[in-house]
Amino acid sequence: MQVTERCRLSDDPLELVLDLGQQPLGNGFMDSINQAEFRYTLQCGFAPTSKLFQLISQPEPELMFHGKYAFMSETSEHMSSHFEQMFTHVVGRKVLSADSFVVEIGSNDGILLKHFAAHQIPHLGVEPAEYVANIAKNKGIRVLNKFFSKEIAAQIHEDYGAADVVLAANVLCHIPSILDLASGIKTMLKADGILIFEDPYLGDVIRLGSYDQIYDEHVFLFSALSVTEIFKRVGMELIDVSHQTTHGGSMRYTLARTGAYSPNPSVSALISSELALGLDDARTFMVFSDRVKESGKKLRQTLEDLRSAGKRVAAYGATSKSTTIYNFAGIGADLISVIYDNSPTKIGRYSPGVHIPIVSESEFASDAPDVTFLAAWNHQQEILGKHQRYGIDGGRWITHVPQVRFL
Ligand code: TMP
Repeated sequence: MQVTERCRLSDDPLELVLDLGQQPLGNGFMDSINQAEFRYTLQCGFAPTSKLFQLISQPEPELMFHGKYAFMSETSEHMSSHFEQMFTHVVGRKVLSADSFVVEIGSNDGILLKHFAAHQIPHLGVEPAEYVANIAKNKGIRVLNKFFSKEIAAQIHEDYGAADVVLAANVLCHIPSILDLASGIKTMLKADGILIFEDPYLGDVIRLGSYDQIYDEHVFLFSALSVTEIFKRVGMELIDVSHQTTHGGSMRYTLARTGAYSPNPSVSALISSELALGLDDARTFMVFSDRVKESGKKLRQTLEDLRSAGKRVAAYGATSKSTTIYNFAGIGADLISVIYDNSPTKIGRYSPGVHIPIVSESEFASDAPDVTFLAAWNHQQEILGKHQRYGIDGGRWITHVPQVRFL
């Protein structure tokens, strides 16, 4: 367990702004409910100088990103098309050829790098989780099955030369040694090289009340303010930002060596909007904390009312995010009988902490519950799109964003 009461970037004391109680690992799906389970206290801190919103304690990375790590990117068509668009964005921004070199940190099952591979652009994925790394390798993608670090960055630079582009999607927010990471990325980049990364966006979490973005793997929730603070320490700056709808609201940040490119006006516009939202002020997160407590209570109450009314309630999407909700609000198999999911790595297992059984989403249509909690709310369009019949036949969806309500 890595516990810090100090900011991982600035070493300033952290202000405790949110307490989500005892939690298991977000992705700690269980083969049997008799297994011993790891638990820790999920608390968030804010550091006013670095503007970094971060976990106070985080389980060891090896506990989370092991060989059987269950998260696979290619379980969603929306995510597949998102990464195809991200590829188009990268090659639109930087001309890449057979002489270029692209590195992706946390390449998962190869959902993004496969496009570079298909265009014969030399690439390397760095992926610690063996199971998903092998899936990518089987698609013909070059993968180094390691945790990314400053040392690995230096080794990649030595073995392959400098990179034109470094990419990371939903990865940097997982890595606690953020300054080492930033300096490792800079080591790998050519003088005019760029870093493009995206992660769930703190501004969206605050606006939507999506506290389920907070779990063990997300040690940071970034904003343009904090990304600026991190990278200025290694001589890099934001040159572009662009909002993404993925993961319930993400930000794509493009960075380069300071002075190498002139920043797009989108950067200063986003920073102004963040100051207006109060993302530089601990009090904003304390107000958020009250909203989270209300949201958890209301969800539990709604599910209890449905149970009293004799309704059968299930959930859709065994998301790591929903682990936070169920364990914070005290929602178990007595309130949600089953979770439907399409990941082969999750079906037949149990949700972390509260042990709700997970079954294949193919059973949803025939088994239709009266009400379904849309745990994978970030895939609303895709999931509701394929189950239009459910609503027509009287089934109801419930969500917790931006507040607990029926859809
Ligand atoms: P994510 O929000 O972290 O991407 O997780 C989404 C989860 O929902 C993942 O376990 C896959 C699952 N899922 C389905 O079961 N059916 C679907 O149609 C989609 C889009 C996701």
